[in-house]
Amino acid sequence: MGFPKNFLWGGATASTQIEGAYNEGGKGMSTLDYVTYKTKEERNDDISSMDVTYDQYLSYLKNDEGINFPKRRGIDFYHHYKEDIKLFAEMGYKVFRLSISWPRIYPTGLEDEPNEEGLKFYDDVFDECHKYGIEPLVTMIHYEIPVTLADKYNGWESRKLIDLFEKYVKTIVDRYKNKVKYWITFNEINMMQASAYTGGGLFLERSPLDKLNCEFQALHHQFIASSKAMAYVHEVSPEAMVGCMINRQEVYPETCNPDDVLCALKDDQFNLFFMDVMARGGYPSFMNRYFRENNIHIQMEEGDKELLAKHTADFVAFSYYMSFVASADPSKAQVLGSFIRPLKNPYLKISEWGWPVDPVGLRITLEKIYDRYQKPIFVVENGLGAKDVLEDGKVHDSYRIDYLRQHITAMKEAVEDGVDLLGYTSWGCIDLVSAGTSEMSKRYGYIYVDLDDQGNGTGERIRKDSFYWYKKVIASNGENLE
Ligand code: BG6
Repeated sequence: MGFPKNFLWGGATASTQIEGAYNEGGKGMSTLDYVTYKTKEERNDDISSMDVTYDQYLSYLKNDEGINFPKRRGIDFYHHYKEDIKLFAEMGYKVFRLSISWPRIYPTGLEDEPNEEGLKFYDDVFDECHKYGIEPLVTMIHYEIPVTLADKYNGWESRKLIDLFEKYVKTIVDRYKNKVKYWITFNEINMMQASAYTGGGLFLERSPLDKLNCEFQALHHQFIASSKAMAYVHEVSPEAMVGCMINRQEVYPETCNPDDVLCALKDDQFNLFFMDVMARGGYPSFMNRYFRENNIHIQMEEGDKELLAKHTADFVAFSYYMSFVASADPSKAQVLGSFIRPLKNPYLKISEWGWPVDPVGLRITLEKIYDRYQKPIFVVENGLGAKDVLEDGKVHDSYRIDYLRQHITAMKEAVEDGVDLLGYTSWGCIDLVSAGTSEMSKRYGYIYVDLDDQGNGTGERIRKDSFYWYKKVIASNGENLE
């Protein structure tokens, strides 16, 4: 009973949120290097703060003096990776999830030869992990693409991106096949719904297609690219495992009115559709009606369906932060895929950023997903974004410990119900720049990083109370959660 002996405990990050050094080591500019910091009032609780318009991009090219681009800074992991990985090792990590920055390997995406300095950086990072017996779990693409590809091809709208991505994937899989055993192709492939720019490198206003057609076309290209990447890992590194990933949105009906229940089912299908394509190997039939009613026509090429069917994920992975409520009442109905203003669930507390905290939802999701796919699961993101206070060199983050304790307990229950769970990498294991809001002050880590939203601070790493707590959790394989 309890977690399996070889359970992979660890933490998760992404290149644009930690690395910094945006113009060092031969790296090219990434789409996320152009996302600016906005105050809460400027964001107005709107996910569009992750978007950049083409006009904005052009204006930043002309002059970016004095503009705050937090994802260019990250937490300077590029120069601190040894110190950071040492701290992960001190906590007892078995796995560290990170992503490779495509523009660090192919600065514009168009070069014939990769950037050796970029490749060497990840060699060093992986070697450092292995020094402590930590397995890297590598996301091939965590949103960002070389910005040149957004400018020249309108990102994933163009089928050309499939070949360019394939070139990049072959380079990294060939290079790291002896160092990486766990891969994820796309981070949260459903992010396109929330932000076309972040999820797809799309400037929607430049497309001849309407929003939905443009997004679903881009998504189809991502599905094909993901399938090809899976095929390549299987061919070159047969002992490795390659997974797919979504942002999981567990949905409850607001009432037991069958109309609400149906509405929740439809929202749920819409979230699982992304995983269905990559784990089951094709577009589920329930999407046909959605495509028809929304006048969506995806251009597919011969062989696409066969490719999707042939190369599927070895494991399914997801991020889980909160659950959602669906209502058939149109005045309440939430926009599909919106995770910025979820309907209020009266049974749940919300975080400082308004995200409902629902550990039982994680158990429900694990059991549902295992029933549906019968493939091993990896929870690759989960955690509490909160404001931390540094007092006398310490951070007493009991609220984070409570959150994690409840979610780990929920996972344990699911494991005892028979769910095949490979591991758990909680999000932002070291404080990092938020993807959604570009704030540093929305902290998830076990390790405090002394930097603020403007990038001021020493960058010093400080162990929080949760650091010592997670160390005990790992040492006891999830038995000691006190
Ligand atoms: C996931 C992303 O959606 O959520 C991460 O994969 C992100 O990149 C995380 O950081 C938490 O979201 P946020 O907006 O709090 O950073």
